[in-house]
Amino acid sequence: MAKSFSVSAFLLFTYLILMNILIFSPQTTAKSQYFSRILSPATLALKREKLSHLHFYFHDIVSGRNPTAIRVAQAAMTNQSATFFGAVVMMDDPLTMRPELSSKLVGRAQGIYASASQSELGFLMALNFAFTEGKYNGSTLSVLGRNTALSSVREMPIVGGSGVFRFARGYAQARTHTIDFRTGDAVVEYNVYVFHY
Ligand SMILES: *[C@@H]1O[C@H](CO)[C@@H](O)[C@H](O)[C@H]1NC(C)=O
Ligand SMILES: *[C@@H]1O[C@H](CO)[C@@H](O)[C@H](O)[C@H]1NC(C)=O
Repeated sequence: MAKSFSVSAFLLFTYLILMNILIFSPQTTAKSQYFSRILSPATLALKREKLSHLHFYFHDIVSGRNPTAIRVAQAAMTNQSATFFGAVVMMDDPLTMRPELSSKLVGRAQGIYASASQSELGFLMALNFAFTEGKYNGSTLSVLGRNTALSSVREMPIVGGSGVFRFARGYAQARTHTIDFRTGDAVVEYNVYVFHY
């Protein structure tokens, strides 16, 4: 009796081990053997999606000794174009809480704007907002959009993000706060509305 019990216990044990291998090995080897798998959002600790509103001022400094935006390329005909068509500008523009450059820095706008319209002042914007403030420090939002700089409101899509802005999507609205037509320096107010987790 005791012996047959131990034999069946042994068989059951063996059975469980085999099932365990069959059931769990795909997951334990997922990293090495699976290109793609379906995950529950809880696996990435994603809770409820939130909507955030960010408000800041963007300083595009093109003149003086320490410009934050510099023209890195242009076409032969760019100088003859009323819209600077073909000019490509690389920026590392400060983002501040208030319109004054001396106010609190919350991040930087890093990327490219390029004149992409021959009929009006219209830029292709391809940039990241790299935030440094509080819990946003180290997180980014990516913008890819069209900026007709002389329009009163310009709307640009937020196409993604990192850090607290993983899975981000939304839009940014830009309004010129001040522009110096002599130097080209501008302060632009941004309102950003973004869904993220
Ligand atoms: C365009 O104008 C700038 C500034 O006046 C000058 O330095 C540059 O050589 C000109 N470029 C061309 C291609 O004419
Ligand atoms: C942001 O994070 C970096 C790297 O961790 C740190 O060096 C820096 O002091 C932080 N900045 C602010 C404003 O908290």
